Amino acid sequence: MKKKIAMLPGDGIGVEVAEAAAIVLKAIEQQFGHAFEMEIGLIGGSAIDDSGNPLPEETLKLCRESDAIFLGAVGGPKWDSNPVGLRPETGLLGLRKTLNLFANIRPVKTYSSLAACSPLKHEVLQNVDMVIVRELTGGLYFGKPSERGGRPGEEDVVDTLYYKRSDMQRLIKAAFDLASVRGGHVTSVDKANVLESSRMWREVAEETADIFKDIPLNHMLVDHAAMRIISSPSSFDVLVTENMFGDILSDEAAMVTGSLGMLPSASFSEQGLHMYEPVHGSAPDIAGENLANPIGAILSAAMMLRHSFSMEEEAAAIENAVEQVLKSGVRTRDLAGGGETYLTTSEMTKEIVNAL
Ligand code: NAI
Ligand code: MG
Repeated sequence: MKKKIAMLPGDGIGVEVAEAAAIVLKAIEQQFGHAFEMEIGLIGGSAIDDSGNPLPEETLKLCRESDAIFLGAVGGPKWDSNPVGLRPETGLLGLRKTLNLFANIRPVKTYSSLAACSPLKHEVLQNVDMVIVRELTGGLYFGKPSERGGRPGEEDVVDTLYYKRSDMQRLIKAAFDLASVRGGHVTSVDKANVLESSRMWREVAEETADIFKDIPLNHMLVDHAAMRIISSPSSFDVLVTENMFGDILSDEAAMVTGSLGMLPSASFSEQGLHMYEPVHGSAPDIAGENLANPIGAILSAAMMLRHSFSMEEEAAAIENAVEQVLKSGVRTRDLAGGGETYLTTSEMTKEIVNAL
């Protein structure tokens, strides 16, 4: 099959892990006889340096002409003191908004060979296989007004949590769709004891459950969900929630596995142009040192093959290769638990390609 992929490496280790993902995609291309045309576009800090714009028009054009988008990560201290509007993150938020990438999908799976990397007890980690579905283009991060006001001596400030009912409907439906493919159940997370927006969220979840009669639904308050992710992560299957709750809970769930560097994600649009990226950021503390764990990026590429190209066999081949390499005991530094022996980004990538 012929597919065009927009590769947006971004900044810091984003560049290193995107390279790793591209190498694995090339191996898949050869092995399965596909043709992946990967074209690089600028986003974030590197785009600011190039043109003063964190999301150049050319990058948007490249994305729109592609079948799927791969993103490394954006950001770094170099750009932190930029005037408002010129932050690297603006590029990523703008891309999500422009392409209407409303559903962020984050699988959280534990590998028995990595149990020692997790801060949690071994028993708690058994059979953890959950997916967090987070709303990505609305809620508190986009609602207006979001501004300071008041008077001298008593400043005030407001942020707004705003959703249309249809925003909730499409997101919660995406969660139920996923649960039916997995043969699982849905936990809808909200703060319905306090927030009116959460009470509407609960209604929409109930209405959606009426359509998906075979998929059990339960509701959970966000504070309780935060506890359960630590105390019994295996009790979750698909967890669906609004933007800010999802931001926090997905990072919490990430730590269950032991390293942020392991986790992939997908962001779905209604139009079918989806984006794939590792969960981690640009990791300025290790950028440029060939120390990043490329697995989150490589598993994101696998998600791309599965969800955008319907290449289930190819996706599973990557996932199995990763599992096999971890079982063999090789580690990147983040997984080595302070040990002296670990592989570089490029060595780990090579191991995974060999296992393929
Ligand atoms: P981060 O995820 O970049 O790093 C957090 C910690 O995890 C660091 O110690 C880092 O070295 C480590 N780490 C992350 N990914 C790793 C990997 N693949 N292998 C080994 N270790 C890894 O988050 P942080 O430090 O909060 O943010 C750094 C920059 O990244 C900021 O500018 C932030 O805005 C940006 N960021 C961008 C995201 C994106 O592009 N989607 C997401 C999160 C943060
Ligand atoms: Mg976050």
